[in-house]
Amino acid sequence: MPDTLPGVLTWPVLPAQPGQPITLLQLTDLHLCESAQASLLGVPVESSFHAVLAQACQDFPDATACLLTGDLSDDGSEAAYQRLAAHTQSLPWPVMWLPGNHDDAATLQRVAAHQGEWGAVRCFAAGEWRVILLDSSVPGEVGGALGDAEYRLLELALMDSNDCPALVVMHHPACDSGTRWIDGQQLADGERFWQVLARYPNVKALLCGHIHQDIDRRVNGLRWLASPSTCVQFMPGAVAFQLDSASPGYRWLVLKPDGSLDSGVKRLPAGAFPVSGKHGEAYS
Ligand SMILES: [Fe+2]
Repeated sequence: MPDTLPGVLTWPVLPAQPGQPITLLQLTDLHLCESAQASLLGVPVESSFHAVLAQACQDFPDATACLLTGDLSDDGSEAAYQRLAAHTQSLPWPVMWLPGNHDDAATLQRVAAHQGEWGAVRCFAAGEWRVILLDSSVPGEVGGALGDAEYRLLELALMDSNDCPALVVMHHPACDSGTRWIDGQQLADGERFWQVLARYPNVKALLCGHIHQDIDRRVNGLRWLASPSTCVQFMPGAVAFQLDSASPGYRWLVLKPDGSLDSGVKRLPAGAFPVSGKHGEAYS
């Protein structure tokens, strides 16, 4: 088990040089299916995920950890999680798994828990930073909510964070993105979320998936980051469901000891894994 810090919660500590920045990679909305050959809207999801991960490994060989932030499987199938586990097991970094609305959270957590000590970790220390992973999935619902158990974890973690700069991570957004058909799927209990965060100014940033877009803006005094999917992308600002022809990608984050944060998105070359249409049935 990694080193831990004393306190109310267990805070596994990422291996890192003291005083050095920590690089995290976020891969989100993989939508892997029971069949490894499956395609969604023309994109072979397993191949596009492998290509994005290979690109991330090449771009950031010295990254410290990787966060998989929901919709890891499109159909919640155990086969998809087992193949994901087999594929990520050889990575040189700890990999943390979070569920999204497409996942079967119980199956995901069971497979993640067998991924060594990091797969099912819900909060960890990353240098000077504290990172808190919340499950915003609601069985049978597309939209998200945290509910009492996740709010208890959030409160405990923030109380225990000793004013360290904190990053909160979950699948669903907690505010409007400007893409109207997705905005109704944000946290149903988001008002409570912002009330909690208002009491902890050490929370510097919020990172999510779900909206299959690159967003980097300030919301309620924090930096809000959302990220492209490793398969299909959604058109920013669309009123109704619309695909974007942007390529699959991932996000990198550098957490600095002074509490500042650098982040950006990298995508596969234009034209890699084109989608088969721009309109269709809503799919998030
Ligand atoms: Fe998704």
